[in-house]
Amino acid sequence: MEETIQDANMSEIAEPVLIRPLVKSDLPALEWDGEYLHFRNVFADVFKKVEKGTVKAWVAVSQDGRMVGQVFLQLSSDRRELADGWNRAYLYSLRVRQIWQNQGIGSRLMDVVEDDLKRMGYTRVTLNVARDNQGAIRLYTRLGYQIVAEEPGVWSYPDHKGIWRTVSEPSWRMEKKL
Ligand SMILES: CC(C)(COP(=O)(O)OP(=O)(O)OC[C@H]1O[C@@H](n2cnc3c(N)ncnc32)[C@H](O)[C@@H]1OP(=O)(O)O)[C@@H](O)C(=O)NCCC(=O)NCCS
Repeated sequence: MEETIQDANMSEIAEPVLIRPLVKSDLPALEWDGEYLHFRNVFADVFKKVEKGTVKAWVAVSQDGRMVGQVFLQLSSDRRELADGWNRAYLYSLRVRQIWQNQGIGSRLMDVVEDDLKRMGYTRVTLNVARDNQGAIRLYTRLGYQIVAEEPGVWSYPDHKGIWRTVSEPSWRMEKKL
């Protein structure tokens, strides 16, 4: 499998964990043994957008093939202050499984996204982070992100049974100049 992946999108890290673009067969593993089953339709929708070219997605995978982490990147949006399709893109759903945290994998996922954006000529990356997520805010701040706005953080999605759920997570919008 690794031979088919383009070098520009790969990153070997110490654990060892491989960071590579999301492929369709990864979708079940994004559910993390049921913890994120409710996001099944969300992940399917992300992959449709990957195929359309409006979203990019990467996963971190252990040497024995386990899903360790993920990050998604929206290139364009109706909300141009988040993503405008040419200069500014929106990073979301950064996630590393708990036993793999604090080993630099989250930072490496961020590096892969930023390197890819720079390669495409983008100059800004935005993200939303829950105001009570001190660990993530610390990580983003260390990586050079600054709080630029408040976000209500309200969004809805159909769960795996098709029932609409609403998430309300007051957030900060953070931004970094690449
Ligand atoms: C936020 C999250 C993605 C960070 O992932 P991570 O892999 O733990 O991130 P890193 O390891 O790069 O950095 C985290 C900490 O480990 C430290 N670290 C980095 N590399 C390290 C290494 N090689 N060895 C030991 N520690 C390391 C960092 O200094 C950082 O320390 P801090 O707690 O003082 O900030 C992860 O905690 C997570 O999935 N949380 C739940 C979901 C979430 O909140 N996502 C963010 C949504 S906005």
